[in-house]
Amino acid sequence: MLSRRNFLKVAGSATAATALGVRTYALPVPQEAPAAPLSANDHIQLALIGAGIRGQGDTKTAIEVPGVKLVAVADCYNGRLDHSKELWGNDIFTTRDYKEILARKDVDAVIIATPDHWHKQVAVDAMKAGKDVYCEKPMIHSYPEGPEMIEAARSTNRILQIGSQRVSSIIYSKAKDLLASGAIGQLNMVNAQWDRNSSLGAWNYTVPLDASTETCDWDRFLGTAPKIPFNAEHFFQWRKWKAYGSGVAGDLFVHLFSGTHFITGSTGPTRAMATGGLRFWKDGRDVYDVMLGLFDYPQEFNLSLRVNFVDGGEESEGLIFTGSEGTMEIGNNFVSVSRTPREKEPGLMINTYTEAMQKRIRDGYKEKYPASHPSGPPAAGFEKYVAPEGYRDNYDHFQNFFASVRSRRQPVEDAVFGYRAAGAALLSNLSIERSAVVKWDPEGMKLI
Ligand SMILES: NC(=O)c1ccc[n+]([C@@H]2O[C@H](COP(=O)([O-])OP(=O)(O)OC[C@H]3O[C@@H](n4cnc5c(N)ncnc54)[C@H](O)[C@@H]3O)[C@@H](O)[C@H]2O)c1
Repeated sequence: MLSRRNFLKVAGSATAATALGVRTYALPVPQEAPAAPLSANDHIQLALIGAGIRGQGDTKTAIEVPGVKLVAVADCYNGRLDHSKELWGNDIFTTRDYKEILARKDVDAVIIATPDHWHKQVAVDAMKAGKDVYCEKPMIHSYPEGPEMIEAARSTNRILQIGSQRVSSIIYSKAKDLLASGAIGQLNMVNAQWDRNSSLGAWNYTVPLDASTETCDWDRFLGTAPKIPFNAEHFFQWRKWKAYGSGVAGDLFVHLFSGTHFITGSTGPTRAMATGGLRFWKDGRDVYDVMLGLFDYPQEFNLSLRVNFVDGGEESEGLIFTGSEGTMEIGNNFVSVSRTPREKEPGLMINTYTEAMQKRIRDGYKEKYPASHPSGPPAAGFEKYVAPEGYRDNYDHFQNFFASVRSRRQPVEDAVFGYRAAGAALLSNLSIERSAVVKWDPEGMKLI
């Protein structure tokens, strides 16, 4: 891991490289606000609710942002509360009951990284308790939760940022600028995929050896989910069941929606259809491991999404934007543009006609399109913009969150943005459930 300081050094030394026909540029890293001295009172006191894989990772990143201090952690598994103390010291307050954290006056903001079925309730409770909220994606687990969270953020005047971190990425920001500048002409299609080929990639996370009703607060974990006897796989591999997660749509499509909406400025699709199946991981899960979705956007482009957990090869994540004059690709640490300017004249297809007819057409054509010689610099064929090695959009996403906490201005990925992304993603599950095309009003954020 690069520290922020070393990372900026590396980033600063990156230079543009030019190869034959390919131009590669290093993307600049946003500068942090000038380091104003922070008194202890200026610190944002943070608590983590849901200290699992993501919650611990998020918190490590969040407290790298200057002026942020972790004071408390809530989780339903003792082992993770104990490890939180190993990571962040015995002074932090730990509890199984997140409401004890919300009652504390020394907590300004919380990270919510529980399973999806808890996001809404914890977020609403936190905002009502006066806390600002960084809530992991997908914002919602079911549709009615969206308006409730939007209303809670509005009425409590709290900051709510959703955790699709690519929305704060320098790569996505460059892609947004490129599209707006007409780099690929008129957008007509976005194809995005998230393919994996491993057991961990398919959510088979390791269950700790001491998992039991002693060490796990099973009732609290279940919350509003159907009551069933303790099941360690459900607890630690919850993504595999709809009761807690939302399948690949809520887990991964949602990132692709957030990225597409941010880059295109669209608020969401109007129609969705999806299909898929459980092809390989027949281990008792009730969600698909292969899923395809098609979405119509009112801005006259189509989105096609794919997740394949058994892709037979490399794991890959990426988006391709197709326009009338080129394509733009987003990969792991880059955005590239391949430009193909449209032809200036339509061409002739005449050789099946009589010689006389060919001549007449050719003469007319020459008059209409006199031979011209190319002038000016050749149109750039291919450009690539690369993020510096070690770049982490997650850090920038937290920086934006804490900037919002200080300025009291809602972030880009606020409750409305989060609902539009998660609401669009869940259309896929609905389409599969109903075996039908489903319609959505992206402005009004309602199913039709
Ligand atoms: N932004 C991203 O790229 C990204 C990546 C991974 C996960 N996530 C999201 O983060 C969230 C957590 O995922 P994870 O992989 O860390 O899961 P996890 O199972 O590793 O961790 C979830 C933790 O929440 C705890 N928990 C459950 N109910 C709780 C409650 N009521 N109060 C307090 N704690 C509770 C569990 O005990 C568990 O330790 C999910 O919503 C997931 O979609 C986002």
